[in-house]
Amino acid sequence: MDDVKNLLGMSDLDGDRLGLLLEMAAKVKANPDEYRRALTGRSIGLFFMKQSVRTWVSCDVAAIELGVHPVVIRNDQTGLGIRETPEDVGRVLERYLDLLGMRVFEHSDLERIAAVVSVPVINLLSDLEHPCQAVADLQTLAEHVTPQRATVAYVGDGNNVCHSLLQAVAMAGASMRVASPPGYAPDPAIVERGRRFGEVIVTEDPSEAVAGADAVYTDVWTSMGQEAEAAERRRALAPYRVNLALFEQAKPDAIFMHCLPAHRGEEVTDEVIEHPRSRVFDQAENRLHSFKAILLQALS
Ligand code: CP
Ligand code: NVA
Repeated sequence: MDDVKNLLGMSDLDGDRLGLLLEMAAKVKANPDEYRRALTGRSIGLFFMKQSVRTWVSCDVAAIELGVHPVVIRNDQTGLGIRETPEDVGRVLERYLDLLGMRVFEHSDLERIAAVVSVPVINLLSDLEHPCQAVADLQTLAEHVTPQRATVAYVGDGNNVCHSLLQAVAMAGASMRVASPPGYAPDPAIVERGRRFGEVIVTEDPSEAVAGADAVYTDVWTSMGQEAEAAERRRALAPYRVNLALFEQAKPDAIFMHCLPAHRGEEVTDEVIEHPRSRVFDQAENRLHSFKAILLQALS
């Protein structure tokens, strides 16, 4: 593990560090008062090049509840990559802040900044990964089933959320199955990373992925920045919609998961996202608790 506790992608963690994060996330959820002001006097940046509801608000509130001062920085007001280089922005911000949380388009921007700063850099979503989401998702999964005995099925675009999820699931000792159409499968290098920890099956058949699973997960077909491809993506991914018929092929007590925002009627039908076994708002809540755990691990 590096001395600086970066979280650019799931490969910055290992099974032990993920286990500690999940333990801490469960503790802060059960006893938030015990951790109030645990990091008093620190300041962090929350930098956004894309829109956000959950990440922005949960990270801001998590910081405040730990006694940390969060500075939200919107790129339309700062101009990373336009007014100045990512490296220069990072080297300035580290003079004011103890940690940089960043939501970017290009993952390489995070790597360029992490290479030149000495404060932790936390990925708040890039084109490649969404590790904070995966930690919250594992917390949510563990509230339903023992992860070591679970099978998680992801159906749809093999995107940033899928990349972090498949590594996190394998790291936690669970079994991962991903179903995507040709051309939309997860990056083979990331699948390989996941396979170093556990089973990751990639298929084109949604039923094969979902059969007997403990959790069925999907995400939007068109991620932020891919809007020009929306029509083509809708065509390719239509057979991968999570509808009731597909969800019912999972275990009878299986949960439905989605990082949100959802494009209802595209990747998931209303009856599945509103299903009594949908856990999408628990996932959103757990972004708050798990980000506290991420801050405590990075700044303690
Ligand atoms: N799940 C998630 O990261 O949501 P936001 O894009 O609203 O932050
Ligand atoms: N895959 C989505 C996730 C949003 C939280 C996106 O990148 O837009």
